[in-house]
Amino acid sequence: MGLHLGDTAPDFTAMTTDGELSFHDWKQGAWAVFFSHPADFTPVCTTELGRTAALSSEFAKRNTKAMALSIDPIEDHHEWAPDIGEVTGTALNFPIVADPDHRIAELYDMIHPGEGDTSTVRSVFIVDPDDKLRLMLTYPKSVGRNFDEIVRVIDALQATDKDPIATPADWRPGDRVIVSLAVSTDDAKERFDNVEEFKPYLRYADAPK
Ligand code: BEZ
Repeated sequence: MGLHLGDTAPDFTAMTTDGELSFHDWKQGAWAVFFSHPADFTPVCTTELGRTAALSSEFAKRNTKAMALSIDPIEDHHEWAPDIGEVTGTALNFPIVADPDHRIAELYDMIHPGEGDTSTVRSVFIVDPDDKLRLMLTYPKSVGRNFDEIVRVIDALQATDKDPIATPADWRPGDRVIVSLAVSTDDAKERFDNVEEFKPYLRYADAPK
């Protein structure tokens, strides 16, 4: 059975570049970005892991931790890790899971048979502090991910958890938000600033502070 939004993210214990870690214990109380990359010593992956390392302060502001995974052995991760800092300017500052027996990759359906070999595709799972899966993205091996989008979606998830709102297309923090359909326009006017009704089902408001 596949994973779905709202499921508990499967727990696992594995060897990582930060030693043996158990996923739920490691992320306890935090959000997590758990993502796979196809292989060590590959160009796109090197840029992605460097970009993730460079975003560590943005993740920390959002109570979010990053963890990567590939099916390479831990010795390869340790050998490759210095290249990430050398090439991208930011040293690796989060764990990479070694998954040589594909145990975790299979648990998270990270290996796609049509994609050439048994290495993982570029999967992203955003997991909330209650260990629930809140977002899943899958990119092919040849296309590096947009990590600004990953930060943006964490902002959107955290904003929509806090207030009865949704976020429109291309929303960025500070932009106006959409009032939840569960809130009447009268109630929305009590609760939010500058409520505007374009349609009974589409009401914009200023983002709550
Ligand atoms: C890369 O990271 O550059 C890469 C890895 C596997 C397939 C294609 C590209």
